[in-house]
Amino acid sequence: MQYLILSDMHGNSEALSAVLRRVRRKHFDATIVLGDLVGYGAAPNQVVDAIREIAGPLWKIRGNHDKVASGIEDGANFNHAALAAARWTTEHLTAANLRYVRELEPGPIVLPEGFTICHGSPLDEDRYVLSIFDAWEIFSRFAGDLVFFGHTHVPSLFVSRGGETRVALLKGTSGSIKLEPGFRYLINPGSIGQPRDRDPRAAYMTFDSERRVVRWHRVSYPVEKAQQRILKAELPRVLAERLALGV
Ligand SMILES: [Fe+2]
Repeated sequence: MQYLILSDMHGNSEALSAVLRRVRRKHFDATIVLGDLVGYGAAPNQVVDAIREIAGPLWKIRGNHDKVASGIEDGANFNHAALAAARWTTEHLTAANLRYVRELEPGPIVLPEGFTICHGSPLDEDRYVLSIFDAWEIFSRFAGDLVFFGHTHVPSLFVSRGGETRVALLKGTSGSIKLEPGFRYLINPGSIGQPRDRDPRAAYMTFDSERRVVRWHRVSYPVEKAQQRILKAELPRVLAERLALGV
């Protein structure tokens, strides 16, 4: 099966549109959305509408910003800018889109082909997997061989064999890796709407489950348009500034 994997759109419709335009002529058997549809960006309805309009099977889970924006959590652990954006999002989502976001399922979910999707970690949907130690803990306590996760906004791959765990940052415009038998993987496609690896381009992934090949991609989009939207909505300026830097 061919999968399209999208994560951390964060209310950035310019970035999501650029990704969907790029893959328009490609065939996917299913799309996977790893959470954080909203929060930070000023186009939450456009993003939720675009996700809802994706044709074919869609596997989706909620992110921490989806929980706060839809009122499941109060955002007590959010910084000022994140909380301001979440509150603005709550006020601006249509009733139908607010319900859609609120009803997103928590991860982890095991897909029919046996791999797992989650927002943060398969052990805790809100946990950040940033270090080899974070990955080692998951490999020690979680049985799955292949997990796709989001949340950190950093395209990255952790691999484990025997007792050894390694990490690779997935840099550049595109690249691929073949998953090998006997190895276990935690893979992050990066963020579409708010990248944090100092590359402002939107990040996404594709996965060919038959050939066991994961491919990562970056797409340029009109960052200024997303920034203008944030400023016009009077959201914290830092949210616009970070988009241009990819931090
Ligand atoms: Fe996120």
